[in-house]
Amino acid sequence: MKKLIAGIGFLCWGAGWAGCSSQPAEEPMEAVVERGLERAARQSLQMAKELEDQEGKLPKSINDGKLETSGYSWWCSGFFPGELWYLYEATSDPELKAYAEQFTERLEPVKDITYSHDVGFMLNCSYGNGWRLTHNEAYRDVMLQGARSLATRYNERVGLIRSWDFNRDKWQYPVIIDNMMNLEFLIWASREGNEPRYFNMAVSHADKTMENHFRPDYSCYHVVSYDTLTAVPHVKQTHQGYADSSAWARGQAWALYGYTMMYRDTQREAYLRQACQVARYLMGHPRMPEDKVPYWDFDDPKIPDVPRDASAAAIMASALIDLSQLTDKEFGQQCLDFAEHQLRSLTSPAYLAEPGTNCHFVLMHCTGHLPGNSEVDVPLSYADYYYVEALLRWKKLKAVDK
Ligand code: GLY
Repeated sequence: MKKLIAGIGFLCWGAGWAGCSSQPAEEPMEAVVERGLERAARQSLQMAKELEDQEGKLPKSINDGKLETSGYSWWCSGFFPGELWYLYEATSDPELKAYAEQFTERLEPVKDITYSHDVGFMLNCSYGNGWRLTHNEAYRDVMLQGARSLATRYNERVGLIRSWDFNRDKWQYPVIIDNMMNLEFLIWASREGNEPRYFNMAVSHADKTMENHFRPDYSCYHVVSYDTLTAVPHVKQTHQGYADSSAWARGQAWALYGYTMMYRDTQREAYLRQACQVARYLMGHPRMPEDKVPYWDFDDPKIPDVPRDASAAAIMASALIDLSQLTDKEFGQQCLDFAEHQLRSLTSPAYLAEPGTNCHFVLMHCTGHLPGNSEVDVPLSYADYYYVEALLRWKKLKAVDK
């Protein structure tokens, strides 16, 4: 009976039927998640068909109304293949699997990249999900070679992985908060390749980032650059945020995801405490909009007349669902409620693209690099990846609960 009432409520909500009570009932979360996954699968298949004959191309965003692609070396190259793997996992559709394989294999040369810390993002999302779902040995080999390349960016004296090689006149040894996201890959490689030093690198990086990137309110800086002789920070700045002292929305989301994942993978309590503090900061932020999709930077003085960043909401939602299972019951429920609110917003017409629109990306209204006047109010491949990951995490969690 409960199910039937919920179903009727959903019909009233969908149709705006005047005969229903004036308070429309909420669409059941199960239906939200299925609708989001269905839309993502439809859009992503169209994207794959559009790009299958364009050798080496991977979707990036929209520029001047047209689909913008990249080659394997752009930091976002792994997100579309990873999204295809998640959607294959959700649907068992062999067409999605074939495309997941095809687009994953476009990233093979990433295994030898030593000029970027993003090797973790690139390979873990694509090959990592492929390995998890198929146990294809060739994928494992690519990943272990990639981990060797990533490890070359670790400096023993500083105790962190170097993020960027540009702006050498400004930054001696820049580390960005986003770099936390590469640690999952190193920890996997440490276990799979029996290389304890990778684990130690990941822990050292996370510890030093915890010490130096955060402010007393648990917001974080984007870039911390270390003095290579003393291993002490010499500047704390931003690159993609509003100001050095501001809270760039996606950076906060990377921090939340990074420490949640580090606790899940290491069981070190300090990481759980950090993840919970960052979650409290974000969920309680006075400038978090009603629909829980952050403005691009929490400290832009022009709020509310500034772009949103749906990618930050998707990353946050995925991390909060993970965190909800790792922390105490009451706080876990707050995290889950917040993530559900975000997923409802992202799956509404305000953010979810209609089929056949948005150059076949799933979400709209993301901000990549506003100060660089690049990727403002556009779709981004990583927003779609973390959105689908969050939907799937929610679905798995509810399957366990039953
Ligand atoms: N890692 C770059 C970004 O979040 O834009």
